[in-house]
Amino acid sequence: MKQNPKAFETVQGIIKERKTEKILASLDAPLKADHNLAKLAQELLELAAWAPFHKPAHESHRQAELNSVVPWRIYVLEAKDCRSLLETLKSWAKDDPKWLDGKIPSLIAAADLLFQVTWLPNPAKAESETLFEGDKDNMELIAAASSAVQNLLLGATARNLPNYWASGGQLLRPEIFDYLGIAKEEIVLGSIFVFPEESRTLGSVKVATGAWRDKRGELKDWSKKVNLS
Ligand SMILES: Cc1cc2nc3c(=O)[nH]c(=O)nc-3n(C[C@H](O)[C@H](O)[C@H](O)COP(=O)(O)O)c2cc1C
Repeated sequence: MKQNPKAFETVQGIIKERKTEKILASLDAPLKADHNLAKLAQELLELAAWAPFHKPAHESHRQAELNSVVPWRIYVLEAKDCRSLLETLKSWAKDDPKWLDGKIPSLIAAADLLFQVTWLPNPAKAESETLFEGDKDNMELIAAASSAVQNLLLGATARNLPNYWASGGQLLRPEIFDYLGIAKEEIVLGSIFVFPEESRTLGSVKVATGAWRDKRGELKDWSKKVNLS
Protein backbone atom coordinates (compact mmCIF):
# COMPACT_ATOMS: atom_id res chain seq x y z
CA MET A 1 0.00 0.00 0.00
CA LYS A 2 1.28 3.49 -0.90
CA GLN A 3 1.89 6.01 1.90
CA ASN A 4 -1.52 7.30 2.80
CA PRO A 5 -1.66 10.17 5.32
CA LYS A 6 -5.43 9.82 5.61
CA ALA A 7 -5.14 6.16 6.64
CA PHE A 8 -2.58 7.09 9.31
CA GLU A 9 -4.82 9.84 10.66
CA THR A 10 -7.78 7.48 10.81
CA VAL A 11 -5.84 4.81 12.71
CA GLN A 12 -4.26 7.43 14.98
CA GLY A 13 -7.66 8.96 15.74
CA ILE A 14 -9.21 5.62 16.71
CA ILE A 15 -6.24 4.49 18.80
CA LYS A 16 -6.18 7.74 20.76
CA GLU A 17 -9.91 7.79 21.16
CA ARG A 18 -10.08 4.26 22.63
CA LYS A 19 -10.58 4.45 26.34
CA THR A 20 -12.03 2.42 29.14
CA GLU A 21 -15.69 3.28 29.63
CA LYS A 22 -17.44 1.04 32.13
CA ILE A 23 -21.21 1.34 31.92
CA LEU A 24 -22.79 0.10 35.13
CA ALA A 25 -26.51 -0.62 35.24
CA SER A 26 -28.61 -1.54 38.23
CA LEU A 27 -29.02 -5.29 38.73
CA ASP A 28 -32.74 -4.68 39.25
CA ALA A 29 -33.11 -2.60 36.08
CA PRO A 30 -30.77 -3.98 33.40
CA LEU A 31 -30.70 -2.18 30.05
CA LYS A 32 -33.12 -3.45 27.42
CA ALA A 33 -31.68 -6.15 25.20
CA ASP A 34 -33.43 -5.00 22.05
CA HIS A 35 -30.58 -4.22 19.64
CA ASN A 36 -29.80 -6.55 16.77
CA LEU A 37 -26.21 -7.40 17.60
CA ALA A 38 -25.27 -10.25 15.28
CA LYS A 39 -23.79 -7.96 12.60
CA LEU A 40 -21.77 -5.91 15.11
CA ALA A 41 -20.42 -9.07 16.76
CA GLN A 42 -19.48 -10.47 13.37
CA GLU A 43 -17.64 -7.35 12.20
CA LEU A 44 -15.69 -7.05 15.47
CA LEU A 45 -14.74 -10.74 15.31
CA GLU A 46 -13.54 -10.18 11.75
CA LEU A 47 -11.15 -7.52 13.08
CA ALA A 48 -9.91 -9.86 15.83
CA ALA A 49 -9.28 -12.49 13.15
CA TRP A 50 -6.51 -10.36 11.63
CA ALA A 51 -4.38 -10.06 14.75
CA PRO A 52 -0.77 -11.20 14.22
CA PHE A 53 0.30 -14.55 15.67
CA HIS A 54 3.64 -16.32 15.54
CA LYS A 55 3.04 -19.99 16.22
CA PRO A 56 -0.05 -22.14 15.87
CA ALA A 57 -2.01 -23.17 18.92
CA HIS A 58 -0.95 -26.59 20.24
CA GLU A 59 -2.80 -29.40 18.50
CA SER A 60 -4.48 -30.40 21.78
CA HIS A 61 -6.52 -27.19 21.47
CA ARG A 62 -7.49 -27.97 17.88
CA GLN A 63 -9.53 -31.14 18.31
CA ALA A 64 -12.98 -29.73 19.02
CA GLU A 65 -15.46 -27.45 17.25
CA LEU A 66 -13.11 -24.45 17.57
CA ASN A 67 -10.11 -25.90 15.75
CA SER A 68 -8.26 -22.91 14.30
CA VAL A 69 -4.49 -22.50 14.61
CA VAL A 70 -4.95 -19.01 16.06
CA PRO A 71 -3.97 -18.98 19.76
CA TRP A 72 -7.17 -17.35 20.99
CA ARG A 73 -10.81 -18.33 21.31
CA ILE A 74 -13.69 -15.88 21.68
CA TYR A 75 -17.07 -16.73 23.23
CA VAL A 76 -19.69 -14.17 22.27
CA LEU A 77 -22.67 -13.22 24.41
CA GLU A 78 -25.19 -10.79 22.98
CA ALA A 79 -27.28 -8.53 25.25
CA LYS A 80 -30.03 -11.10 25.86
CA ASP A 81 -27.41 -13.72 26.76
CA CYS A 82 -25.75 -11.21 29.10
CA ARG A 83 -29.08 -10.71 30.85
CA SER A 84 -29.53 -14.50 31.13
CA LEU A 85 -26.04 -14.70 32.61
CA LEU A 86 -27.01 -12.00 35.10
CA GLU A 87 -30.09 -13.99 36.16
CA THR A 88 -27.90 -17.06 36.59
CA LEU A 89 -25.42 -15.13 38.76
CA LYS A 90 -28.34 -13.87 40.85
CA SER A 91 -29.64 -17.38 41.39
CA TRP A 92 -26.17 -18.76 42.23
CA ALA A 93 -25.68 -15.83 44.63
CA LYS A 94 -28.44 -17.22 46.87
CA ASP A 95 -25.92 -19.89 47.95
CA ASP A 96 -22.74 -17.90 47.36
CA PRO A 97 -23.12 -14.09 47.49
CA LYS A 98 -19.68 -13.67 45.87
CA TRP A 99 -21.34 -14.24 42.49
CA LEU A 100 -22.67 -10.69 42.73
CA ASP A 101 -19.43 -9.09 43.97
CA GLY A 102 -17.84 -6.06 42.36
CA LYS A 103 -18.67 -4.40 39.07
CA ILE A 104 -18.98 -7.41 36.76
CA PRO A 105 -22.72 -8.03 37.37
CA SER A 106 -23.52 -4.33 36.73
CA LEU A 107 -21.48 -4.43 33.52
CA ILE A 108 -23.34 -7.56 32.42
CA ALA A 109 -26.58 -5.69 33.15
CA ALA A 110 -25.58 -2.98 30.66
CA ALA A 111 -23.59 -4.77 27.94
CA ASP A 112 -24.71 -5.20 24.36
CA LEU A 113 -21.86 -7.63 23.79
CA LEU A 114 -19.55 -9.58 26.04
CA PHE A 115 -16.58 -11.28 24.43
CA GLN A 116 -15.06 -13.81 26.79
CA VAL A 117 -11.58 -14.10 25.29
CA THR A 118 -9.22 -16.95 26.09
CA TRP A 119 -5.69 -17.79 25.01
CA LEU A 120 -4.40 -21.31 24.48
CA PRO A 121 -1.36 -22.24 26.58
CA ASN A 122 0.99 -24.99 25.50
CA PRO A 123 0.49 -28.11 27.67
CA ALA A 124 2.82 -28.01 30.66
CA LYS A 125 5.93 -30.18 30.31
CA ALA A 126 6.08 -30.84 34.05
CA GLU A 127 3.61 -30.97 36.92
CA SER A 128 3.24 -27.49 38.39
CA GLU A 129 0.97 -25.32 40.53
CA THR A 130 1.24 -22.36 38.15
CA LEU A 131 -1.45 -21.39 35.67
CA PHE A 132 0.94 -21.88 32.73
CA GLU A 133 4.63 -22.33 32.00
CA GLY A 134 6.37 -18.97 31.76
CA ASP A 135 8.33 -19.59 28.59
CA LYS A 136 8.80 -17.64 25.39
CA ASP A 137 6.27 -19.63 23.39
CA ASN A 138 3.51 -18.96 25.92
CA MET A 139 4.50 -15.30 26.06
CA GLU A 140 4.01 -15.07 22.30
CA LEU A 141 0.65 -16.84 22.45
CA ILE A 142 -0.59 -14.30 25.04
CA ALA A 143 0.80 -11.44 22.98
CA ALA A 144 -1.10 -12.61 19.90
CA ALA A 145 -4.37 -13.01 21.80
CA SER A 146 -3.86 -9.53 23.29
CA SER A 147 -3.58 -8.13 19.77
CA ALA A 148 -6.91 -9.74 18.93
CA VAL A 149 -8.45 -8.04 21.97
CA GLN A 150 -7.07 -4.65 20.96
CA ASN A 151 -8.61 -5.12 17.52
CA LEU A 152 -12.01 -5.70 19.16
CA LEU A 153 -11.61 -2.55 21.28
CA LEU A 154 -10.53 -0.41 18.35
CA GLY A 155 -13.42 -1.65 16.23
CA ALA A 156 -15.91 -0.84 18.97
CA THR A 157 -14.31 2.60 19.37
CA ALA A 158 -14.58 3.25 15.64
CA ARG A 159 -18.31 2.45 15.95
CA ASN A 160 -18.48 4.97 18.84
CA LEU A 161 -19.43 2.25 21.31
CA PRO A 162 -18.21 2.41 24.92
CA ASN A 163 -15.96 -0.56 25.64
CA TYR A 164 -13.89 -2.06 28.44
CA TRP A 165 -11.28 -4.81 28.91
CA ALA A 166 -11.88 -6.39 32.34
CA SER A 167 -9.79 -9.15 33.88
CA GLY A 168 -12.98 -11.07 34.53
CA GLY A 169 -13.55 -11.29 38.30
CA GLN A 170 -16.06 -14.04 38.97
CA LEU A 171 -16.18 -14.85 35.25
CA LEU A 172 -12.83 -16.61 35.77
CA ARG A 173 -14.44 -19.23 38.01
CA PRO A 174 -14.68 -22.84 36.73
CA GLU A 175 -18.49 -22.80 36.94
CA ILE A 176 -18.52 -20.09 34.27
CA PHE A 177 -16.24 -22.14 32.01
CA ASP A 178 -18.80 -24.96 32.21
CA TYR A 179 -21.76 -22.62 31.78
CA LEU A 180 -20.32 -20.92 28.68
CA GLY A 181 -18.84 -24.11 27.19
CA ILE A 182 -15.19 -23.05 27.51
CA ALA A 183 -12.59 -25.83 27.66
CA LYS A 184 -10.80 -25.92 31.01
CA GLU A 185 -7.42 -25.99 29.24
CA GLU A 186 -8.02 -22.42 28.02
CA ILE A 187 -7.06 -19.33 30.05
CA VAL A 188 -9.27 -16.26 30.14
CA LEU A 189 -7.38 -13.19 28.95
CA GLY A 190 -10.24 -10.85 29.54
CA SER A 191 -13.92 -10.12 29.50
CA ILE A 192 -14.44 -7.54 26.79
CA PHE A 193 -17.56 -5.46 27.20
CA VAL A 194 -19.20 -3.37 24.48
CA PHE A 195 -22.07 -1.13 25.51
CA PRO A 196 -24.81 0.65 23.56
CA GLU A 197 -23.84 4.07 22.18
CA GLU A 198 -26.71 5.83 23.96
CA SER A 199 -25.82 4.29 27.33
CA ARG A 200 -23.23 7.05 28.00
CA THR A 201 -25.99 9.57 28.54
CA LEU A 202 -28.62 7.45 30.29
CA GLY A 203 -29.51 8.80 33.72
CA SER A 204 -30.06 5.27 34.99
CA VAL A 205 -26.42 4.08 34.64
CA LYS A 206 -23.06 5.01 36.10
CA VAL A 207 -20.07 5.56 33.82
CA ALA A 208 -16.56 4.87 35.13
CA THR A 209 -13.19 5.37 33.46
CA GLY A 210 -9.87 3.50 33.73
CA ALA A 211 -7.67 4.28 36.74
CA TRP A 212 -4.44 4.50 34.72
CA ARG A 213 -5.54 6.44 31.67
CA ASP A 214 -3.78 9.72 32.50
CA LYS A 215 -0.83 8.19 34.33
CA ARG A 216 1.10 6.90 31.32
CA GLY A 217 3.75 9.63 31.41
CA GLU A 218 5.30 10.92 28.24
CA LEU A 219 7.02 9.03 25.44
CA LYS A 220 10.39 9.84 27.01
CA ASP A 221 9.27 8.04 30.17
CA TRP A 222 9.01 4.71 28.39
CA SER A 223 11.03 5.00 25.18
CA LYS A 224 14.48 6.19 24.25
CA LYS A 225 16.46 6.56 21.09
CA VAL A 226 19.38 4.16 20.78
CA ASN A 227 22.42 5.95 19.34
CA LEU A 228 24.92 3.57 17.77
CA SER A 229 26.67 5.82 15.26
C1 LIG B 1 -5.22 -7.23 30.61
C2 LIG B 1 -6.03 -6.08 31.15
C3 LIG B 1 -6.90 -6.31 32.21
C4 LIG B 1 -7.63 -5.25 32.75
N1 LIG B 1 -8.45 -5.51 33.81
C5 LIG B 1 -9.09 -4.49 34.40
C6 LIG B 1 -9.91 -4.74 35.53
O1 LIG B 1 -10.10 -5.89 35.94
N2 LIG B 1 -10.49 -3.69 36.16
C7 LIG B 1 -10.31 -2.40 35.69
O2 LIG B 1 -10.85 -1.49 36.30
N3 LIG B 1 -9.59 -2.15 34.57
C8 LIG B 1 -8.98 -3.16 33.92
N4 LIG B 1 -8.26 -2.92 32.79
C9 LIG B 1 -8.34 -1.59 32.15
C10 LIG B 1 -7.24 -0.70 32.57
O3 LIG B 1 -7.38 -0.31 33.92
C11 LIG B 1 -7.23 0.55 31.65
O4 LIG B 1 -6.94 0.14 30.35
C12 LIG B 1 -6.21 1.57 32.13
O5 LIG B 1 -6.66 2.23 33.30
C13 LIG B 1 -5.92 2.64 31.08
O6 LIG B 1 -7.10 3.34 30.77
P1 LIG B 1 -7.65 3.44 29.28
O7 LIG B 1 -8.09 2.05 28.87
O8 LIG B 1 -8.81 4.41 29.37
O9 LIG B 1 -6.53 3.95 28.42
C14 LIG B 1 -7.52 -3.95 32.21
C15 LIG B 1 -6.67 -3.74 31.12
C16 LIG B 1 -5.93 -4.79 30.60
C17 LIG B 1 -5.00 -4.53 29.43
